[in-house]
Amino acid sequence: MKKKFMVVGGGGREHALVRVLSESPGVGEILCTPGNASTQRIAKCRNFPSDDNTDIVKLALSNRVDLVIPGPEVPLAAGLVDDLAAAGIPAFGPSAASARLEASKGFAKDFMARNGVATADYVRCRTADEAFAALDRFGFPVVVKADGLAAGKGVLICADRSEGEAAVNSVMVAREFGSAGNHLVIEECLTGWETSVIGIVDGSTFMSFLPAKDHKRAGEGDAGPNTGGMGVIAPHPQVDEAVWNDIKQNIIDPTMAGLGAEGLEYAGFLFIGVMVTSSGAKTLEYNVRFGDPEAQALLPLLAGDLTDYMAAAMGGRLKDVEPRWRGGAACCIVLASEGYPGSYETGYPISGISEAEETGARVYGAGVRSENGGILTDGGRVLGVTGIASNLKDARALAYKAIDKIDFKGAWYRKDIGVSALQS
Ligand code: AMP
Ligand code: GLY
Repeated sequence: MKKKFMVVGGGGREHALVRVLSESPGVGEILCTPGNASTQRIAKCRNFPSDDNTDIVKLALSNRVDLVIPGPEVPLAAGLVDDLAAAGIPAFGPSAASARLEASKGFAKDFMARNGVATADYVRCRTADEAFAALDRFGFPVVVKADGLAAGKGVLICADRSEGEAAVNSVMVAREFGSAGNHLVIEECLTGWETSVIGIVDGSTFMSFLPAKDHKRAGEGDAGPNTGGMGVIAPHPQVDEAVWNDIKQNIIDPTMAGLGAEGLEYAGFLFIGVMVTSSGAKTLEYNVRFGDPEAQALLPLLAGDLTDYMAAAMGGRLKDVEPRWRGGAACCIVLASEGYPGSYETGYPISGISEAEETGARVYGAGVRSENGGILTDGGRVLGVTGIASNLKDARALAYKAIDKIDFKGAWYRKDIGVSALQS
């Protein structure tokens, strides 16, 4: 019997999840809540307009869903998986207790420290005075992080004490990130290059997707403020066997052991942000979900059936499974609204999506809604355009060729996604 899936979320990652599910022979219907203008175009998918956990549980129950896949962190941190479990509905993701690995940076850092997971030195601060006192502890630059969820924007890298004070003031006093700034973490600033290591986990195994490279800063050459991610390439050309062994030994293995020892294990996605420094690989953060836009680059590279891997994780059989890849490389570029990651306007008509798809690239809808048959902008990150090819250079060329066909008022994207990886 074909299974009925429900994907929670309305961004590009969820479009990528719905699309890959729709390609699986074992999948019957797919529900998506709230979904977006792009998920709605997939024949097997029905959108439901809710992002409230109570409504989502009701929806899953009344539609007799076999498995729920939450995309974003907010419903996970708010206990969606616990609520679904109480209603007897299986879900692929962590409980609220495990989601603290993402929802509290201080919790995550203490977890890493307890379990010998390589990471930057840090101090947790509960008041602005504690933070001002700790600012000088690691020298400058220093990193100030809002403890809670801030859509990838709550990390501030401060060149000197005055920038550090301004960061503490904006996070803890002005509450620029709301209650995410109740507490903060001050952290040693690492230098090196980054990779997104995403896996499917069960109680003991981390089944890794290809290591990816996100481009988090808004500006060319990795300048400007942090965003949710402006583009991704995969596989990451700098992650060779020695780097991978370092990541496995000093980050993945102690993380998995720690999750088990502390009763935090779950079946779902685990995303580890890693910085490879001259003194080895260090953990930047955990996310208890797939990355966005990493999903738009990694999922199309999968040759095996995602639902088989998820079933293996739910059954605790992941150690027996090897992921299968198509080969080649992916490059996903994000097309954003003017003003993102700051404030922006929405509601502008988008043109050229079909022309972009005619090039062979995939266009994922992130912040998009439909109106009178057309597609309008509806978020900061509007679309993700992914090129897949036999190598990174060609994947990149395809993605840029396709993105040039798309337009809306104020549209912008980084022109240098993948450039530094090609040069290294
Ligand atoms: P996070 O949300 O913790 O991954 O941080 C977002 C981004 O901030 C990371 O991808 C890094 O580029 C940067 N970052 C976070 N922590 C540090 C650190 N300790 N040193 C240098 N950069 C960092
Ligand atoms: N692209 C980074 C994230 O999903 O957090």
